[in-house]
Amino acid sequence: MSGKATLSVNGQTIELDTVVGSEGEVGIITKPLRGATKAISLDPGFVNTGSCTSDITYIDGENGVLRYRGYAIDELATKSSFLEVCYLLLEGKLPSASEFSDYKEQITRHTLLHEDLKKMFDAFPANAHPMAVCSSVVCALSTYYQNNLDPLNPEHVDLSAKRLVAKLPTIAAFSYKKSRGQALIYPDNELDYAGNLLKMMFAYRTEKYELDEDVAKLVDTLLILHADHEQNCSATTVRVVGSAHANLFASISAGICALWGPRHGGANQSVLEMLQVIADDGADVDKYVALAQDRDSGFRLMGFGHRVYKNYDPRARILGEMVEKVLTKLDINDPLLNIARKLEAHALSDSYFVDRKLYPNVDFYSGIIYRALGIPTNMFTVMFALGRLPGWIAQWKEQLAHGLPIGRPRQIYTGENLRPYVPMSER
Ligand code: CMC
Repeated sequence: MSGKATLSVNGQTIELDTVVGSEGEVGIITKPLRGATKAISLDPGFVNTGSCTSDITYIDGENGVLRYRGYAIDELATKSSFLEVCYLLLEGKLPSASEFSDYKEQITRHTLLHEDLKKMFDAFPANAHPMAVCSSVVCALSTYYQNNLDPLNPEHVDLSAKRLVAKLPTIAAFSYKKSRGQALIYPDNELDYAGNLLKMMFAYRTEKYELDEDVAKLVDTLLILHADHEQNCSATTVRVVGSAHANLFASISAGICALWGPRHGGANQSVLEMLQVIADDGADVDKYVALAQDRDSGFRLMGFGHRVYKNYDPRARILGEMVEKVLTKLDINDPLLNIARKLEAHALSDSYFVDRKLYPNVDFYSGIIYRALGIPTNMFTVMFALGRLPGWIAQWKEQLAHGLPIGRPRQIYTGENLRPYVPMSER
């Protein structure tokens, strides 16, 4: 189904084509607008602008629905594995048993980093933020594979995608180990994806590492929950960088930087820091809920609100249920969880949040879970990046497969009109 939209600009009427998605969403194709009327559509922050059609992820923000390739997030979180979700996002279908064992084998065989690349980790100060380290090292990976970087060559792209999925946990774990001043732990090809990550982060060379399978399963689920979220800030960054035909490593490195921001993936770190500030200030939740409503305070309730969800974020719902189980299993009584629960209850009954449809998002509870698992606060956003990686790659591949033009928005210039240059001596 498709239809027409009619638009009048300064008395001139034009007809625009529309596109209707498989779930009935309607997009108006505004490309001819400027040619016909000289006007452009102006939408800072792309609040109401679609940048592409996509087969990857469906979100119904009003009803709190999230699906990857048609599969509900709840079902994937309980029945699938992160590597299977990687395959699903990248290949568009669930793998057969033999396809999956083949994929797993290939990922496992690419987990090592070139020994020379390890030296790069020594160049950062011990307190370097691991997001900066990860972004830098991911970009540097491109220098080791210069014969396989052509974004228009499917074999090069496939190999780069596998290298990235395989190596990002190693890069993340090395950045963590460096920050602790500890010896690096190499990948263990006997372990699954999440188990290998945990071992590389938490094992010591002097001791046998006992992997807690339940914790590994939990981390795997967290990765699944973060695996894609359609045209978010970092995915859009990855797509725009890819639209210039930059290679996949460079594009993903840019995505990691975009994710780092506290309005985006960096919010999980900010949530924990906020909860700690509230705890240190006597756990006065009412004070901070009020502060979040005061525009002049500059304070926002981190982990609350979302551009697309105007209902409970389905990932936050799953995490909110998960957090109790994790703390019980690990026998942890975290006072920050009590503060988080109070904040949520208070905000959800406060007209400011209700009227604006501000609900907890994915970052609200994930940090408490990471903390319970012993993951330090500045690694939270790295955990998000590890999860989001297959989504970024899938979005990048689709951008190129659809042959989309370079991402290059227009603007409305509001600066000075033409004026003569005044020599410095006369100013
Ligand atoms: N605390 C207090 N007020 C808020 C919040 C919040 N967390 N979020 C939005 N608002 C208010 C905002 O002030 C505005 O009020 P008004 O209409 O009176 O001007 C209204 O709600 C709409 O907010 P917005 O900033 O126009 O919405 P947006 O879609 O541009 O921004 C957001 C979405 C996620 C950046 C924003 O909600 C926010 O800053 N949240 C806190 C940071 C956060 O948790 N980010 C993680 C997002 S989910 C995971 C991810 O993307 O990585």
